[in-house]
Amino acid sequence: MTVIVTESLSKRYPRVTALDRLSVDIAPGVTGLVGANGAGKSTLIKILLGLAPATEGTAHVLGLDVTKDGSTIRERVGYMPEHDCLPPDVSATEFVVHMARMSGLPPTAARERTADTLRHVGLYEERYRPIGGYSTGMKQRVKLAQALVHDPQLVFLDEPTNGLDPVGRDEMLGLIRRVHTDFGISVLVTSHLLGELERTCDHVVVIDGGKLLRSSATDEFTQVTTSLAVEVTDTDTHPDGTEALRAALVSAGAAVSTDAAGAASVVSSGHLLYVEAPGEETYDLVRDTVAGLGLGLIRMEQRRHRIAEVFSTADAAAGTPATVPATAGAPHATQDGGAHDAA
Ligand SMILES: Nc1ncnc2c1ncn2[C@@H]1O[C@H](COP(=O)(O)OP(=O)(O)OP(=O)(O)O)[C@@H](O)[C@H]1O
Ligand SMILES: [Mg+2]
Repeated sequence: MTVIVTESLSKRYPRVTALDRLSVDIAPGVTGLVGANGAGKSTLIKILLGLAPATEGTAHVLGLDVTKDGSTIRERVGYMPEHDCLPPDVSATEFVVHMARMSGLPPTAARERTADTLRHVGLYEERYRPIGGYSTGMKQRVKLAQALVHDPQLVFLDEPTNGLDPVGRDEMLGLIRRVHTDFGISVLVTSHLLGELERTCDHVVVIDGGKLLRSSATDEFTQVTTSLAVEVTDTDTHPDGTEALRAALVSAGAAVSTDAAGAASVVSSGHLLYVEAPGEETYDLVRDTVAGLGLGLIRMEQRRHRIAEVFSTADAAAGTPATVPATAGAPHATQDGGAHDAA
């Protein structure tokens, strides 16, 4: 079962190829669409909504053809655009009621759905104030509410965490997850941050220069590694237990690092040791060494990959473009030395 299918979908502008023969199937659930600035994310969403014609290829949304059934698609799909598009002088309630009416809801149902949706996105208290006075986080919530108000089967959320601070970002990601778990609505959410999607999405599609780089379940990106994360206590004899253990393991011949191997993007905690564990004997070695030093073992667990690492290691080796920048705005060089223009 799929909610979105594209086949060899391309979009060419006179000077840029925004989408390049993209073929992808997207199942129900929460799917992340990741790519650097200019990768083609917003272009894909506009084609899927039937708002922009593709140059070649086909696309279906909820089984409907984007070239013929655009208006039916837009009835069944909610859309949160990436740019600020809210009128400053009306309240969230007035605006979302208006959008609900535009989607065909009768007046009473529009008001009820608006109240429910604004409550869901956490805007209940402020809903009668003009939007012009809202913070960025509140505006993003209004944009999310108007995408949900007509009870769509699927929503396209274009960069919903843009401009949010880390707390606002986490709250928005939580809301997005609940759009699916509470209402059963499928979600396609774009981001240029690989890392933020691994907790939110069931599936991640990565595009680069309009081409499909990878489409996988989040679990496949975050496979367990052969390295063990070990955390120990400090004692009076060993005021730095982590360092004492590191030294003892190194002298016993184990490969130990205080950083997740090769993973520049992973924040390494000062109290974690990463031990390469090719076999079971390494588990015994760690346990015996910790006991020998008289330290307490807080945890010893197999480390999982972070999505961002998959692109800094595995794909570089496979000869595909080396990195999908984990942060916005990084110049995006491909292996042939070319660089994509940021939009
Ligand atoms: N109307 C247009 N005319 C010409 N080129 C365009 C047009 N719209 C988009 N492009 C180009 O197509 C490419 C893809 O743009 P798109 O907006 O889809 O990227 P994006 O992945 O959404 O990027 P961002 O993260 O910056 O939002 C870019 O190179 C952009 O400059
Ligand atoms: Mg975009």
